[in-house]
Amino acid sequence: MLLQPPRFFGSRFVLPLLLASSFVPASSAADTNGVSPVRPLYLDPSRPLETRVEDLLPRLTLEEKISLVHGDSSFSVAGVPRLGIPERYLSDGPLGVREAMKKTPAVRLADDFSTAMPAGICLAATWNPELARAEGEAIGQEARARGKDIMLGPAVNIFRTPLCGRNFEYFGEDPFLAGRIAVGYIHGEQSQDVASCVKHFAANNQEYGRNGINEEISARALREIYLPAFRVAVQEGGAWCVMAAYNKVRGQFCAQNDYLLNHILKGDWGFQGLVMSDWGATHNTRQAALHGLDLEMGTSTNWDNFHLARPYLEALKKGELPVAGLDDKVRRNLRVMFATHMFDPGRTNGSLNTVAHQLVSRRVAEEGIVLLKNERHLLPLDPDKIHSIAVIGENAVRLQDYGGGSSRVKSFYEVTPLEGLVNRAGRRVNIIFSEGYERNGGAELAERAVAAAKAADVVIYVGGLNHRFDREGADRRSFQLSYGQDELIRKIAAANPRTVVVLLGTPVEMGAWLDRVPAVLQAWYLGMEGGNALARILFGDADPSGRLPCTIPKRLADSPAFADCPATYPGTNGTVTYKEGLLVGYRWFDTKHIQPQFPFGFGLNYTTFKYSGLKLIPGGGADGTLVTAQFEIENTGPRPGAEVAELYVHENHPDLPRPEKELKGFKKVFLKPGEKEIVSIPLNRSAFAYYDPAKNGWVAQKDKFKILIGASSRDIRLRGAFRLAEPVSFR
Ligand code: BGC
Repeated sequence: MLLQPPRFFGSRFVLPLLLASSFVPASSAADTNGVSPVRPLYLDPSRPLETRVEDLLPRLTLEEKISLVHGDSSFSVAGVPRLGIPERYLSDGPLGVREAMKKTPAVRLADDFSTAMPAGICLAATWNPELARAEGEAIGQEARARGKDIMLGPAVNIFRTPLCGRNFEYFGEDPFLAGRIAVGYIHGEQSQDVASCVKHFAANNQEYGRNGINEEISARALREIYLPAFRVAVQEGGAWCVMAAYNKVRGQFCAQNDYLLNHILKGDWGFQGLVMSDWGATHNTRQAALHGLDLEMGTSTNWDNFHLARPYLEALKKGELPVAGLDDKVRRNLRVMFATHMFDPGRTNGSLNTVAHQLVSRRVAEEGIVLLKNERHLLPLDPDKIHSIAVIGENAVRLQDYGGGSSRVKSFYEVTPLEGLVNRAGRRVNIIFSEGYERNGGAELAERAVAAAKAADVVIYVGGLNHRFDREGADRRSFQLSYGQDELIRKIAAANPRTVVVLLGTPVEMGAWLDRVPAVLQAWYLGMEGGNALARILFGDADPSGRLPCTIPKRLADSPAFADCPATYPGTNGTVTYKEGLLVGYRWFDTKHIQPQFPFGFGLNYTTFKYSGLKLIPGGGADGTLVTAQFEIENTGPRPGAEVAELYVHENHPDLPRPEKELKGFKKVFLKPGEKEIVSIPLNRSAFAYYDPAKNGWVAQKDKFKILIGASSRDIRLRGAFRLAEPVSFR
């Protein structure tokens, strides 16, 4: 028997009362006997998002509103069952869906594996925003399959010091590159009805003292270096969530930082989504309430005592804080829920561990590996000419995916470098593995490794760092290799001149052995398909096309954060002062004329490319384009490969000092031998502008600019000049 649909009166004042006792879930709102029951506007997916938010907000009691602005377990936020507001599930993170923490649907499924992507720095090293999009999409699909609503990534903090424990998660030293990668990633992830949460806002550039360190940064360095990736992530990427960092910026904790959250993010940038705190990063109810925090998260189990829980409720009831402020927070939380279709039928269900996801993981690894050195064409290896390989180094067999802190992933499987090489080389090649080093040293291991090296046709040394060094919560203590690896590599290279050094992790000092080995690859952490990807590069099934997203200095003392230690790093009396200002990464090395070991944007291929015919065409692109750089790239070598053309801008006579050059565009092109492509890179006003603190805004002066097209920041192949006829200023 069909029930009579309830009779509603069309008034907004009556509806909430009725709903309080008889909520109609979306799924039951279908036709009944050809007659649709009236459903509240907020449950109608055809209504504009803001209409739904405004319809739902007044139905909530004060207590219910409070329940929406703080966590009720480490990774969830309560819903309001009375109104059909679902519970929200959050999950790390940037490199794949983290294993289940308490109280998530996945725990009940007892299945919390996921696809492990390579480290963020590897994704940035691909210089391929399309691939970032594919990765975001895959993670988004896995998030949905695991019942998640908000994913805690991407992480876009700037590589300021090589020692920062979380550099591996981030997208390198350049704000433009980090921004392009972030936008691609977010577009992909959010296409799957999952919200991205770009983090850690802002300037969480060191793990040392992260819970309290105060970062003194000029307005200009903030706007030009530390904030742009966040800005494009929310404005162009449309990220629905931003995570406020642990540290302080200019004296105020980031999760309650009026300047960063209210003034810049929500004011200047017009952000409409929600700001959540990093876990346990909130310190004061009043500041959190007034300075722009919308969702307090943390691991303490006493949810009721969260700053934005009972203490906030009490202050509101006493009239000490305005309810309008709470309403703004609730609106922002609801917006994210509607934007990700949490109330709607037909929300994506996602998928896990598909072949497509595995391939994305492998491709990011392949395209992110950077070939730093390749003398005498030692690489790629020819399996027909090689009979034996000594694989040396503990990283050849170490599992890395489940390490590093909150970005760790319990991967479905992980192909180690040794397994990848065995898979690829097959039975025709004799592979001998020797550990070479271990945590507590051991000369015996080194001797065995040297003997193995002597006996083999070629050595693949797989060393570098691991997640004891690259990890959340602590910085590296040293820029050098550990476990006696410098000495070991020298001995191995002496025993066998055909030694390929593969370094996992973030960059290290290489001077002790670099001139003694013919081939070096920077291979980060490569995710669950890492071993296969590495083998494909070493054997030439894939051409290396990764480019460094960070400068590798010759020694730590050369890098900008070490110019005035300890004030500039790791800080004195709880404050770290960014004295280098804008001069981070190559901006420092180029402006100060310091020779790096390997420059930003550098990476070799197995083939070669020729650049020619630079034309600077005024306008010529989408709206707002001031000039388009057009040139040709030709693959002049014997193999298919991909080149990354990098465009830097230099201003001739700026009123305020500017770095020697700044990356403002790039394009990755895939070419067969002999193939050519015309590359067009449009430049708009932000390619020429700097931030003028006196004007509180961006200024592009009437001036001449050099347009430099390079294969790296230090390998400029084409030069042009552009004159900006009229000054431009904007916010
Ligand atoms: C990290 C965040 C992470 C959060 C939740 C914090 O310690 O800094 O990146 O998303 O924990 O795991």
